[in-house]
Amino acid sequence: MKPSFERLAERRARALHGGGEERTGAQHRRGKLTARERIEVLTDEGSFEEFGMFVEHRATDFGMDQRRVPGDGVVTGWGTVNGRAVFVFAKDFTVFGGSLSETHAQKIASLQDMALKNRAPLIGLFDSGGARIQEGVAALAGYGEVFQRNVLASGVIPQISLIMGPCAGGDVYSPALTDFIFMVKDTSYMFVTGPDVVRAVTNETVSAEDLGGALVHTIKSSVADGAYDNDVEALLQMRRLIDFLPSSNTSEIPEWPSFDDPGRSEASLDSLAPDDPAKPYDIKELIAKTVDEGDFFEIQEAHARNIVTGFGRLGGRTAGFVANQPMVLAGTLDSAASRKAARFVRFCDCFNIPIVTFVDVPGFLPGTEQEYGGLIKHGAKLLYAYGEATVPKVTIITRKAFGGAYDVMASKHLRGDVNFAWPGAGIAVMGAKGAVEIIFRSDMGDTDKIAARTREYEERFLSPYVAAERFYIDDIIMPHETRKRVARALAMLRGKTLQNPWKKHGNIPL
Ligand code: HXC
Repeated sequence: MKPSFERLAERRARALHGGGEERTGAQHRRGKLTARERIEVLTDEGSFEEFGMFVEHRATDFGMDQRRVPGDGVVTGWGTVNGRAVFVFAKDFTVFGGSLSETHAQKIASLQDMALKNRAPLIGLFDSGGARIQEGVAALAGYGEVFQRNVLASGVIPQISLIMGPCAGGDVYSPALTDFIFMVKDTSYMFVTGPDVVRAVTNETVSAEDLGGALVHTIKSSVADGAYDNDVEALLQMRRLIDFLPSSNTSEIPEWPSFDDPGRSEASLDSLAPDDPAKPYDIKELIAKTVDEGDFFEIQEAHARNIVTGFGRLGGRTAGFVANQPMVLAGTLDSAASRKAARFVRFCDCFNIPIVTFVDVPGFLPGTEQEYGGLIKHGAKLLYAYGEATVPKVTIITRKAFGGAYDVMASKHLRGDVNFAWPGAGIAVMGAKGAVEIIFRSDMGDTDKIAARTREYEERFLSPYVAAERFYIDDIIMPHETRKRVARALAMLRGKTLQNPWKKHGNIPL
């Protein structure tokens, strides 16, 4: 072999060695894969090409001139997921704890530029100790360059962050600027400042898990959109998610072969929603029975469970689903549910993904806790998101659509394209009991009179016909034909064009 070839093989082997056997072993003992092993699981076999494998940092302080590792703690490149191009960077915890240096940041920024120019998703696999402490401000500058590119790419290409180890300081803000964050249970943490700093500043003693583990961020803070048991499962789920997403805001929605008849009738749906409005039912059953092959990728499953958001397909093409969940808080809209759904609706609208909305909502959640927490502003986020969305919007009212929440949930008045109701739906300012107590207060002592008034109110308003007479509802459909009617509506709306007035950008109530 020529000496130059030998030299290449030797340099490549050294780069692939990462932080060495001992640190790789420690990574494995913690149940974590290495950066390159992760990329292998994420991308199609043999498809990944690495860029910048020989890049080394240029720092000299604190003896760093004696410690250079090719690649500098991040593996960057591109590959395919089921044949579609994706750009991937993976922090290598075995090299300086995956910490970000000036050159490490340059590698990520260059990949971000490439993903943006080539209009393909960018996936970041995080496992890092934050800013490279020995580099100081050069590392901070590097983060700034990465953040700026995250912002510019937002709404142009899907950006996904998978947190697979510790993630502190600068390494939480780049993920926070991306579309989705997923975590690995028990091995990943996200916090702006770690437990030691927390103790020093606030005297509070808290474990890394309790401060920023997967449960905290998927249930409480809603920083993360989901969590998985281990690296392999998380990476395989990312492949599944990518299959739902278009490559950019100018790409077509991916279309996959489906063996599920779009006209499939589901007789069991006719008995799904109980007539008694106080009785709950699981809206996820409706979603599962509507989408192709029951395949639904839920986003933020554990947070604000009174609303369900996620991706499914109809006729092989992706749609975003938003559905009130009567099983939790009776499906009311509170601040958390409004924020969760608003963010999801805006993602769909960025990437031209049609939105299907299932409505069973008794209203906004009343109370001081909600009002003090800014329900007005958070509820307005969802109103704003639906109101600005120009993608096809298909809405089905399955039971209750009361008060302001009726307007919010992709009603005709917010440019819903096709709005259906099931025969048992009721669309009104409020439920019968509350309404009668207010408008017939003088009759409250007379139970017969109140019962008659309640019946009268129910007959007049708690049906879909008043709304249908006014053409706020396009048709009243049988529950069993929901899949067919939604699929047909989406097929009809494929050529929809609608533009909002020109503006620099709107001012969503943040
Ligand atoms: C340089 C780092 C490093 C860092 C870890 N290492 N973090 N090197 N800069 N930020 C190195 C360690 O020296 C060690 O090197 C190797 O990575 C593994 O680290 P350990 O501490 O042995 O691992 P572990 O016990 O698993 O702990 C992981 C950790 C801890 C929790 C991430 O290392 C840690 O707390 N690191 C510092 C976190 C931090 O405060 N970062 C700065 C955030 S501020 P050897 O050679 O021994 O293997 C920030 C500002 C940006 O990011 C803000 C922008 C908005």
